[in-house]
Amino acid sequence: MIRVAVVGATGYTGGELLKILLSHPDARVTNVTSQSRPGQKLGDVHPFLRGRMDLTLESYDAKRLASTCDVVFFALPHGVGSQNIADFVALGKKAVDLSADFRLKNVKTYEAWYKVKHASPALLKKAVYGLPELYRKEIPGSPLIANPGCYATTTILALTPLVRRNALVPGSVVVDAKSGVSGAGKKLDPMYLYCEVTENFQAYAVAKHRHVPEIEQILADQSGQTQSLTFVPHLVPMTRGILVTAYGTLKKKMTTAAVRRAFEEDFGGERFIRLLPEGRWPQTKDTAGSNYVDINVTVDERNRRVVVLAALDNLVKGASGQAVQNMNLLFGLPEALGIK
Ligand SMILES: NC(=O)c1ccc[n+]([C@@H]2O[C@H](COP(=O)([O-])OP(=O)(O)OC[C@H]3O[C@@H](n4cnc5c(N)ncnc54)[C@H](OP(=O)(O)O)[C@@H]3O)[C@@H](O)[C@H]2O)c1
Repeated sequence: MIRVAVVGATGYTGGELLKILLSHPDARVTNVTSQSRPGQKLGDVHPFLRGRMDLTLESYDAKRLASTCDVVFFALPHGVGSQNIADFVALGKKAVDLSADFRLKNVKTYEAWYKVKHASPALLKKAVYGLPELYRKEIPGSPLIANPGCYATTTILALTPLVRRNALVPGSVVVDAKSGVSGAGKKLDPMYLYCEVTENFQAYAVAKHRHVPEIEQILADQSGQTQSLTFVPHLVPMTRGILVTAYGTLKKKMTTAAVRRAFEEDFGGERFIRLLPEGRWPQTKDTAGSNYVDINVTVDERNRRVVVLAALDNLVKGASGQAVQNMNLLFGLPEALGIK
């Protein structure tokens, strides 16, 4: 039985982790932490856990967690947990970080986009990007998994088969992305108030969202070439879900069938990627509450443009489901164990 702690257990991804771990046959949650509510019952913060996970929130203490757990999920905002993660990993334990702190390999890029100083840059070299469909072999040997961003997971999976085949005109890719409100976490911000969100559809961080360098870094790694794209996120009045529409100009003529073959070759055996039948387009409702990514493609032959659509649940495949997928790989368990 793997003993697990969730740091930042009161947040959205922390709650989703606990929901998944509750029915994981080989994992047991031993500790849950909160900086603002130590001493409070977990079931008072997440009522769905009342009578099902009898734990009390505690303050973070690396040594205590290292003595009671095998792995810790850090579900904290970026910039606040990296020193704690470094302390924990130094004690010889495994960590899965849901924040952006260990995703970008270049510390200057991280500091430029996130506007904070990185507290433990030396650990970046040891971190593996936790997108199992691309880095399955590297994950088990690493002490620290940088769990990918939700927009990044969706966009990277939508574009990888194309960039691996060098099929796109450089600089031609535009990504139009939409997210439900839970993507922003539980924090209070007027932009996420009910009256601002409901019956509204707005863009934000246009062409400067923080997932851009993450997406470009991984697509460059997958293709062996520098990648550059324009990314426009939107906030949609729904609780959870991401839908990405990616457009790119093809270098050479390609049929829809040929593009589909590329996706089938790369992802055909993937447990959590569903390439939909022709004419069926991914939608957020079909992936809500699951760890699936739904993808479909078409070629606009008149304009030699490929269009890829992908949908997932930002709190599951975009965060906590993927984090448990990574935990399973770290401990040699079947990758899909406990992820319904
Ligand atoms: N939401 C998503 O869809 C999603 C998807 C992928 C990745 N992520 C990433 O996952 C991480 C967690 O996201 P989330 O949506 O769960 O956020 P959240 O709902 O805001 O929860 C974060 C938790 O961290 C704790 N916290 C906040 N400020 C802190 C501080 N200064 N020091 C220590 N603890 C602090 C808070 O709990 P206490 O005050 O009780 O300690 C809070 O409940 C973020 O880095 C986010 O970018 C989120």
